[in-house]
Amino acid sequence: MPKMAITVKGGVGKTTLAALLAYIYAQAGQAVIAVDADPAASLVYALGMPAELAHQIRPIAEMEELIYERTGAKPGTSGGFFTLNPRVDDIPDRFSVTHQGIRLLQLGTVSSGGSGCICPESALLKALVTQLILYRDEVMILDMEAGVEHLGRATAGAVDAFIIVVEPGLRSLSTAQTIQRLAADIGVTRSYVVGNKVRGEADRDFIRNNLPDSEVIGFLSANPRAVEADMRGQAIFEAVPELVEEARLIAATFDQAITAPQ
Ligand SMILES: Nc1ncnc2c1ncn2[C@@H]1O[C@H](COP(=O)(O)OP(=O)(O)OP(=O)(O)O)[C@@H](O)[C@H]1O
Ligand SMILES: [Mg+2]
Repeated sequence: MPKMAITVKGGVGKTTLAALLAYIYAQAGQAVIAVDADPAASLVYALGMPAELAHQIRPIAEMEELIYERTGAKPGTSGGFFTLNPRVDDIPDRFSVTHQGIRLLQLGTVSSGGSGCICPESALLKALVTQLILYRDEVMILDMEAGVEHLGRATAGAVDAFIIVVEPGLRSLSTAQTIQRLAADIGVTRSYVVGNKVRGEADRDFIRNNLPDSEVIGFLSANPRAVEADMRGQAIFEAVPELVEEARLIAATFDQAITAPQ
């Protein structure tokens, strides 16, 4: 009898939106760091990083020497002693690549097997995310898989907001509500929704009507050229200027929303 697990709820457009927003803030003259926290790191492509830069970048979680040097323990070991607050302040500048004013850092993944691993690599990543959120003077855009693992309670409160990307469809909307709850549980005070791949007013209404308790801060239209850009590894903001204009509105609404009193 066949037994199968069908995986990956994704593809709603998190990476696409992350790249668009990074571009918009960089264009506005702000320092920007785009942080890829998805194990299947793909932000590098959405940003259209040239091959020589793309080859240079490596996920921090895979840097065994660095993890050992900073935590005092080898990655993959647990139960032993290692420091829980390793030095990380030099990591963003040393291990990122910069293109068109956008700094890109890849975190990589910790193979925790769902056990909420307490191991050297996760200690380093936690400290690094804290560093990025609390101590660096730049716009930070974190591209995460659907979850909240990368944010500890200590730093979640310092994140201005979660942006939850949805596409028109009940499955996506129910995932969004789950994420919203998880975010609130760890102390993220604001969550906003962006509807992606919308084909018109009916899709916008569908999203608004099915998420009555969420603040929808904007929409990106479905555009076949986004898919073509992905197939070619072309920067989304160069391939589809219409999406840049829509994302500009989203960024403006976001900036306003996070400064409004709650
Ligand atoms: N507005 C859009 N119109 C058409 N296609 C889009 C749009 N936004 C994203 N796509 C396409 O959908 C696919 C998934 O997008 P993207 O990689 O941004 O999603 P994701 O949520 O980051 O996915 P994953 O969960 O795999 O990381 C890509 O091929 C992308 O080009
Ligand atoms: Mg992605």
